[in-house]
Amino acid sequence: MAELGKRLTIKLGELSGTEAFIWALVAFLGYRWVHMSARYVARLRHVRDIPSTPTLFFGFEKGPRTGLPHIPWVCPVNAYTPRQPWLKYERVRSDLIALPSLLSAHMAYLTASPRLAHIVSQNLDAFRKPTYLGRYTAMNVFGKNLLSAEDGDEHRRHATVIKRCFNECSMENVWDAMRRSLATMLTEEVEGLGNDGSVEDVRETMIRLTLLVIGSAGFGVDFPWTINETTDEDMPFAEALHMVEKSVMLQLLVPSWIMQNIPSAKLNRYALARKCFHAHLYTMYNAKRAELSADFHTEKNSRRDIPGDLMGSLVHSQLSVEEETRLEGGDRRLAGLTESEIIGNMCYLALYPEWQEEVHREVKAVCKSGMPGYGDLQRLPLCLAVCLEALRLRDVVVSNFKEATRDIIAPYSTWDEHGIISHHEHVIKQGSIVVIDQTAAQLNPFTWGSDRLNFNPRRHLAASYSRAIGFEGSGGRSPFVGFALGPRQCMGKRFAEVEMTSFISGVCSEYIIEPVGLNADESWEEMRTRMLDDTKEHLTLQPGRFAVRFVRR
Ligand code: HEM
Repeated sequence: MAELGKRLTIKLGELSGTEAFIWALVAFLGYRWVHMSARYVARLRHVRDIPSTPTLFFGFEKGPRTGLPHIPWVCPVNAYTPRQPWLKYERVRSDLIALPSLLSAHMAYLTASPRLAHIVSQNLDAFRKPTYLGRYTAMNVFGKNLLSAEDGDEHRRHATVIKRCFNECSMENVWDAMRRSLATMLTEEVEGLGNDGSVEDVRETMIRLTLLVIGSAGFGVDFPWTINETTDEDMPFAEALHMVEKSVMLQLLVPSWIMQNIPSAKLNRYALARKCFHAHLYTMYNAKRAELSADFHTEKNSRRDIPGDLMGSLVHSQLSVEEETRLEGGDRRLAGLTESEIIGNMCYLALYPEWQEEVHREVKAVCKSGMPGYGDLQRLPLCLAVCLEALRLRDVVVSNFKEATRDIIAPYSTWDEHGIISHHEHVIKQGSIVVIDQTAAQLNPFTWGSDRLNFNPRRHLAASYSRAIGFEGSGGRSPFVGFALGPRQCMGKRFAEVEMTSFISGVCSEYIIEPVGLNADESWEEMRTRMLDDTKEHLTLQPGRFAVRFVRR
């Protein structure tokens, strides 16, 4: 043995620098391979009692799972069933699926159980937000924000400031901003000269509508409906925001210096849009801060004078707690969320006119003439239920990730061919990622019933339904996971609800929305598939192109 060691040392001593490097690399890769293989085998053994989809790498993230080709084991995207989110659970008759992968640093699980989602989201002691994942770091191009903040102190610091911005005054402002923006949209697009009420590209129109709302409610600025493209180096705020919104994926993934230096006029313009958007934000922020600090703590700027726009109330809030945080990164993505959601509302209302009539009746019962105001919000439960039902059937955020900070026993369910449920437990090991599969959880038949695929907003109205499905323990909390649950629940939930209810009640009080077929032969089913299924997964779910017609009542 000693002789062998001696010979090896001599042989190693004879190696040139390059050869030594190659051998070291081979040894390192060999070690990594053995380590990964052993880890993979251990993972497979650990999950042998639950359904699993072993893979080469973790490919369940939004984007890749619809963009990659299906290659068994390597990236089995068909097993993820993104177009039929519940199907993968139905196939294996379990609401928990393990995703052990060879190359991934983390063991991963998918759950479609609102109950487990609730446990995972509430239990900060055992689960944390994995802010190191690309889905969060991609948001940090504008600096850390509430969405990408670490649980604990960092999150508390951001949340303290931002919570104050979502006050009653801001919410009323959101309602009114949507009303004004809707009026502009109807005048410019629907009632325009020679127009038969058709909106050809609902997505583009909704981007403009939500830009108007975010301009007014977010920054206290009135944008024009038509945003002309300039050639200026100093791009106006409205144009910069519009371009950032249109190129949001590129903005998040491609660094500015690459966009600036690629010989493409379009990409250079996107880079300029980002630069100008930042510059405008800082100018506005500093101006607002100077204006508010001038007489802060005086009678003129007391708590009841909190500005109505989010930027103003953010600055006011910062001044009162003197904390530094930045809203804008999350804010841009979030404006896009409500835009996608409003498009979803339009799809469902256009396809199910009977619900438009119900909403119309509710609105007219609240105010015989004119349009309901923010004060009527509580009396428009059906309008809000329409929004929630559209979100349930077509979730825009799609999935939510948590990391186990210690070993924890998680409950899950399986069922037989007759639908008889059995309850089980599985140890989720420290470091594992649990993916709350929101789209599937909201189509879970054991939570939402056998009619779960039907568009039925009324299901959100029954006060007893959450108790009926076994959520008594959580004080009747709804298992609705579209806005996430627990301390990291969506902070803009009310903003989104107010904005969407203002839109729905405003449109349905005066108009009927009709779907526009591609041709006279297109059936309702074909139209439905085209309108609802032609979506693209990016950071969130984005609807495809379709048209609707607004007919005055
Ligand atoms: C229909 C529209 C919306 C939906 C479905 C939605 C859904 C969600 C979800 C699922 C999360 C958790 C994400 C994660 O942890 O990875 C979240 C977080 C968040 N949302 Fe929303 N959201 C919507 C609109 C908005 C709007 C309009 C705003 C602000 C104006 C907003 C502000 C936030 C913030 C600040 C967080 C981070 C909360 C935290 O980590 O403490 N959301 N949202």
